[in-house]
Amino acid sequence: MRNILSVILLAVFSWTFSSLVMASGGGVHLDHAPGDLTDKESLKRGAQAFADNCLSCHAADYMRYNRIGRDLGWTDLEVTEKLINTRGADGEKTKVGELMKVAMNNDYANVAFGAKIPGLTVIARAKGADWLYTYLRTFYLDDSRPTGMNNLVFADVGMPHVLWEKQGLQKAIFRTEEGTDGNKKHIFEKMEIVEAGTMSSEEYDAYVGDLVNFLVYMGEPVQLERKSLGIKVLIFLFVFAIVAYMLKKEYWKDVH
Ligand code: HEC
Repeated sequence: MRNILSVILLAVFSWTFSSLVMASGGGVHLDHAPGDLTDKESLKRGAQAFADNCLSCHAADYMRYNRIGRDLGWTDLEVTEKLINTRGADGEKTKVGELMKVAMNNDYANVAFGAKIPGLTVIARAKGADWLYTYLRTFYLDDSRPTGMNNLVFADVGMPHVLWEKQGLQKAIFRTEEGTDGNKKHIFEKMEIVEAGTMSSEEYDAYVGDLVNFLVYMGEPVQLERKSLGIKVLIFLFVFAIVAYMLKKEYWKDVH
């Protein structure tokens, strides 16, 4: 009994603790991602944004193009036109049945960006939607970095701010405070747009919201089916219970 109790306690404790760690994001407040997996139009816009801006460097190497088409309601032809920009070694355009590979060689990336570029298929499960939503909106100018940019939730990131033309350029305002240990701490206060982008800040937030929604879907595509399947199963069980009850009454009616 004691053993079972301690296992349960341990499970509860580690679950609470790990969700705290996930939510902390290095001490920076994470903004809530507005995603909605039932919104197919949002997922389509997100898929488009992903193909346009991210696939040049990041692969999504557990995901096939035509699976996206099937889940979101695009024909193979539409998927090819909208999402596929890469060609194989033979010069042929990548086929819809293939995985979302990347054109760039990772050894080259390692030299160019000082970091390996991770695949993004399951990134939403590793980092959480709120972290991604905050990450893609908090690149700020920093002269000390090779890309000229830093990031609020991913300090000294190797990735350039690929969406800067849309968002514009912003600088981060920090306030300095003395901690209880006597050390000075920089605490983030706010962002200030230095150069406007092609989108307003609401448009940019919506654009990133769709992109993150797509990343969440890609991390676990069956989520789309699971929820509707769950409801169907419950309805089936309910109807079946009535039938079983009626059958039982029928069988037992003469036995008394
Ligand atoms: C020019 C190449 C390039 C493009 C384009 C690019 N990234 Fe990155 N990305 C990187 C590199 C390099 C890193 C690794 C950074 C590091 O480790 O310092 C990275 C890291 C990341 C991470 C953190 C991964 C982790 O495991 O911590 C996320 C999330 C991410 N990118 C998302 C995106 C999204 C979404 C897009 C499209 C809007 C995108 N990236 C476009 C180069 C790129």
